[in-house]
Amino acid sequence: MIRSTIRGIGAYLPAKVMRNDELPAALGTSDDWIQSRTGIRQRHLAAEGELTSDLAVAAARQAILRADIDPRSIDTVIVATSTPDNTFPATATAVQRKLELQPGIAFDVQAVCAGFPYALATADGFLRTGLSRRALVIGAETFSRILDWNDRGTCVLFGDGAGAMVLEAQEQKGDTSDRGLLGITLGADGRNYDDLFVDGGPSRGGGRVGVLKMNGREVFRFAVVKLAEAAEQAAALAGIPLADIDWMVPHQANARIIDGVGKKLGFPAERVVLTVGDHANTSAASIPLAINAIFEDGRLQRGHTLVANALGGGFSWGAVCLRW
Ligand code: ACO
Repeated sequence: MIRSTIRGIGAYLPAKVMRNDELPAALGTSDDWIQSRTGIRQRHLAAEGELTSDLAVAAARQAILRADIDPRSIDTVIVATSTPDNTFPATATAVQRKLELQPGIAFDVQAVCAGFPYALATADGFLRTGLSRRALVIGAETFSRILDWNDRGTCVLFGDGAGAMVLEAQEQKGDTSDRGLLGITLGADGRNYDDLFVDGGPSRGGGRVGVLKMNGREVFRFAVVKLAEAAEQAAALAGIPLADIDWMVPHQANARIIDGVGKKLGFPAERVVLTVGDHANTSAASIPLAINAIFEDGRLQRGHTLVANALGGGFSWGAVCLRW
């Protein structure tokens, strides 16, 4: 059977780092408060004029290099983002243009922090049906542009960044030893629309992009339950017991949420990937950034299995189980 295998991964973080103790004093927060509640120590911030597509392109270049492919063979670009360069066209077409790719399929996926599992699921469908042969899937965000920098309850939580994967269709045996995407689950529940949102947008008029608003407690409660559920479902769909999965790579929102998910599932903490301390919450970019981190430090080896699970605004959630 045809599976979507991962041919390369890359990531990019803007050069500018802001540590907790460098946040404006007027916010009335502290390194101690932020670290104890969230595990976040610092975040990367895009430079003035640095766009989501610039971050996406930098991550994509590294993924393409590592995939060792001719970029002209990429026929599909999917960008998961909630912070597009422009309202339209899709940031994916900006990526196509900046990388000088051949004409092909290109569009954005908007599922906020769950964007990367949604984008992988979309690419997987295209690859397995033959609509695409080689796909560039990117999670890229400049959340620093949609934060209220006077609201200590939200602005301390997020950062900018991008991660990318090159996927390709490959004939596999069709059993649990296959490499690539093995199990995917997605969901959304619009009843929680108001718990996490940006209070502006094209159809609201007024020309405002808006800023992020959040009911932190409700997000926390829902996230622990759904992230655990989604991880279990993805592993089950792949036919692999969760206990046998090598790595859990949760969306990096908050170390306490991640800890809660690990405990709920009885999954060993040393196999849960944690990058939120260095990156903060980079929304759709957090999962590919975290997978890239264990790829680069050598923890992730060929043949390893991982589950990547995410939850974000909507609420929307999803998980992917794959063999590297
Ligand atoms: N520094 C200092 N004090 C703060 C800060 C801060 N950065 N933020 C909030 N406070 C204060 C509040 O003003 C409040 O003060 P008050 O009692 O004087 O009014 C007090 O801390 C408690 O505020 P709460 O919002 O109730 O704090 P809580 O204990 O719920 O912690 C937090 C807030 C860390 C945001 C928590 O709710 C949380 O982690 N929620 C998950 C949210 C999340 O991770 N969102 C990411 C986006 S969604 C996703 O990606 C899954």
